[in-house]
Amino acid sequence: MIKNTEIITKLIIEAKEKAYKETSNEPEPQLVQKEIKWPIQCTVGPGLEGAIACESKVGYVNGTKGWLIYRGYDIFDLAAYTSYEEVSYLLLHGELPTKNELKKYKETLTKFSFLPLTLRQLMNFPVEEWNTMAALRVGTNIMRQILTYRDKDIDDIIKSKNIKVIGTDEDSIPMETMPMGEKRAIYEFKHNRDKLIKSKVVLDEALGIRSCYHLIAGLPTITAAIARLRKGSLPIEPDPDLSIAGNLLYMMKGEKPTPIEERIMDVALILHADHGMNASTFASMVVASTLSDIYFSIEAGIAALNGPLHGGANERVLYTLEEIGSPDKVEKWFKKAREEKRKIMGFGHRVYKAYDPRARILGPLAEFLCKDHKEVRTLFKTAKKLEKMVISTLGKEKKIFPNVDFYSGLVYKALGIPPEMFTPIFAVSRVSGWTARIIEYLKHNRIFRPRAIYTGEFNKKIKKRR
Ligand code: CMC
Repeated sequence: MIKNTEIITKLIIEAKEKAYKETSNEPEPQLVQKEIKWPIQCTVGPGLEGAIACESKVGYVNGTKGWLIYRGYDIFDLAAYTSYEEVSYLLLHGELPTKNELKKYKETLTKFSFLPLTLRQLMNFPVEEWNTMAALRVGTNIMRQILTYRDKDIDDIIKSKNIKVIGTDEDSIPMETMPMGEKRAIYEFKHNRDKLIKSKVVLDEALGIRSCYHLIAGLPTITAAIARLRKGSLPIEPDPDLSIAGNLLYMMKGEKPTPIEERIMDVALILHADHGMNASTFASMVVASTLSDIYFSIEAGIAALNGPLHGGANERVLYTLEEIGSPDKVEKWFKKAREEKRKIMGFGHRVYKAYDPRARILGPLAEFLCKDHKEVRTLFKTAKKLEKMVISTLGKEKKIFPNVDFYSGLVYKALGIPPEMFTPIFAVSRVSGWTARIIEYLKHNRIFRPRAIYTGEFNKKIKKRR
């Protein structure tokens, strides 16, 4: 736990108390069972609504009551009393780590958070011009390729092959070429790649738990590097003394976060870590079920998360609030949005037909942060007014309430993060849930292979075409 941040814990506990007053939390019998005998009966709607794809011990969402559980623990308690590192370990291993396990886990994550070879290759692309999720997906793919020459044991490779490592702070750029009019330095890195490729090792490791650690530790480094490159700065190396949350902020912004900022980012990462069989989790599990590897699977998760109906909504919520402009303009904007049958970003959910517990925490955190942030204060007040309007109309009619994406963007904006980085940050956290569910599913793997009902024609004849 990060010190001097009791105020954040207090806000989370208050949010929990409010939630517990407003909603009960008993499990739904059809979705919570100790033992399942396959095949099972379920009613399936479009978009696989109601379909049961697998069994899992990783987490549970009670959408009717607005209740989220990771491995038996209530999300409010995890947010109040644990760190993101502990939560990612919990999701992967089933239990919170002991002191010693946590120490070892953190050491491994720290080691895996240094990705000099991956960043070097990523920087050969015009990342600053790319969609940030596209860049993250490519970065993840490079991590996979690098695994073939063992980026994870980078120290050994460097020693044995006498490879020069790029200095990733601005003061030491040994690899920079002479300025030739390029927008940015071009890095070249040549070594005897073939000797380093060990395909057996690759496959074993790309399906194992250490690949999960590699991804959990590596995605923050890539995400931060993308943020830096977009503003024309070089990536910054992680600081081994900081948490994943602290490092994410540090590596993006170039300055050490305050304990409060680090803690709030830590809570945001905890809240986004897992969420049942959502689209990106399912996408990553489908890929894993073919016995492709975890890196490819995570790339699929990143691609699915990018969409505005899923993780991409957080960025768009901010644009919506900016478009509205101020609280007094909400009513007119909302009336028009309803007439145009516009989907309002940050509201509604396939599973939640109640207030999303994650939004119950992120709302007060956004309010807390906006006290010192005039611009975010106006956006927050606009958000509050919009929330009230939506709940009193769409809430009553269709059970539409704020979801996790409604307030996360305001939190990130107040932390000084640009909107195009919001969805990659979602991926930085969700990679814990993706990997945990993949590892769990692979133990009793069966390839996902649903069917479609054919509504096309038969007996069409081909006319002579040539
Ligand atoms: N604004 C206005 N109307 C909505 C909204 C919304 N945000 N969400 C759902 N509805 C209406 C929808 O128009 C439909 O009305 P009708 O029955 O009259 O046609 C009804 O509610 C059911 O909606 P749906 O689109 O069939 O519901 P779904 O379960 O297929 O979609 C959703 C869920 C999250 C994609 C949808 O609520 C949505 O598009 N929300 C906005 C985008 C968003 O905030 N996404 C983040 C989701 S939470 C984080 C994450 O998982 O990434």
